[in-house]
Amino acid sequence: MSVQIAPSILAADFARLADAAAAVAGVAEWLHVDVMDNHFVPNLTIGVPVVAALHAATPLPLDCHLMIDDPDRWAVGYAEAGAANVTFHAEAAGNVVETARSIRAAGARAGLALRPATDVDDYLDVLGEFDMLLVMTVEPGFGGQEFIAAMMPKVARARKFLRDSGTPLWIQVDGGVAADTIEECARAGADVFVAGSAVYGADDPAAAVTALRRQARMASEAVAELHSGRVT
Ligand code: DX5
Ligand code: ZN
Repeated sequence: MSVQIAPSILAADFARLADAAAAVAGVAEWLHVDVMDNHFVPNLTIGVPVVAALHAATPLPLDCHLMIDDPDRWAVGYAEAGAANVTFHAEAAGNVVETARSIRAAGARAGLALRPATDVDDYLDVLGEFDMLLVMTVEPGFGGQEFIAAMMPKVARARKFLRDSGTPLWIQVDGGVAADTIEECARAGADVFVAGSAVYGADDPAAAVTALRRQARMASEAVAELHSGRVT
């Protein structure tokens, strides 16, 4: 598993989003864009026009995390606006499979997000339609919240299922991911790490990305050695 870092611009200055992207371009694998509609979550952020503008302003692939009602209707628009990945919430969707297919047909990767209370077992049978599973490690809606360590068994269960079934999905964690929590996420089986405050709250966002990646890589390599039986 290769480790990828997705800085969340929710923690950046919204008047300077292009600068926020530039601060991590060439260092981060993704730019995580939190789309909130004030219905699915009690917060309002940005929509398709800003995603399209960001896409024009940065070479970084955009990872759109839709925290919106009715993604069946709206998700494809984010793919058409240039997002390289579009993740929507299972709890908000009518037909998760059809929505994933419409995102992929528009040329983007498709992600399925689960709130902390949502059981991953209910979605194991549809994961083959997706490129990524997002296990929320906070209640979606706001940055800067405390990491919910009780989500680690959900990540581990999903990773075991994917490994056993040979399904090559990425597992993303989002919420409270920072220097003190990223290693347990990696050990549980996550490989894509969203970090808002930990990147944009740092004096040097690019250095923060590099440091987080190094931590996650070392933790996931240690687990891989255990699985390969090289360490007893
Ligand atoms: C929360 C968002 C997160 C948020 C994470 O609903 O989905 O992407 O930006 O922020 P931190 O890393 O500060 O918890
Ligand atoms: Zn997010």
